[in-house]
Amino acid sequence: MYSICILVLLSCSFNDVWAATPYQACDSAFGTIQTFDVTGCTTSPCKFTKGNSYAMNLTFQSKAPSNSVKVSIHGVIAGIPIPFPLPDPDACKLGIACPVNEHDVYTASLALEVLSSYPSLSLYVKIELVSGEKDQDYACLRFPATITSSTNELNNLVGWEKGKIFEILY
Ligand SMILES: *[C@@H]1O[C@H](CO)[C@@H](O)[C@H](O)[C@H]1NC(C)=O
Repeated sequence: MYSICILVLLSCSFNDVWAATPYQACDSAFGTIQTFDVTGCTTSPCKFTKGNSYAMNLTFQSKAPSNSVKVSIHGVIAGIPIPFPLPDPDACKLGIACPVNEHDVYTASLALEVLSSYPSLSLYVKIELVSGEKDQDYACLRFPATITSSTNELNNLVGWEKGKIFEILY
């Protein structure tokens, strides 16, 4: 019994060291997500501080060819998706070698700018990589996040109910 506990503890600490960002995949007819990483976020919710930019790598395996791929990012607040403005949604400029082939693996390197003008709140961030011509997703995911001006402010936010983070639907 004792040794089982030690094993469990060990695997927990290994998870903490190498854990990727927790996310939930949504339907994507054109591909399957392999890995997803947001700078400094290995536990839910991701904590974003205003005025910072957060790098994200999203790796997927393609199931269909396409000449172009676009990035779409939404903040889902109280069930309502609000588009995050992107300076250039062309994913072929973000590490994806276009045209995309069937079966190959691609990584998009994105940046999420958390502007000082954003309100402090809890939200879901929804990210999609979409085939330009066919309007089908290569990758679709969402993850919970909090946006604050400083880490102190976190205490004043309405938190995520423990264990319910992915159950709030939008
Ligand atoms: C994204 O990938 C690049 C290149 O492999 C790496 O240097 C960077 O640290 C990665 N960033 C994240 C947030 O995983």
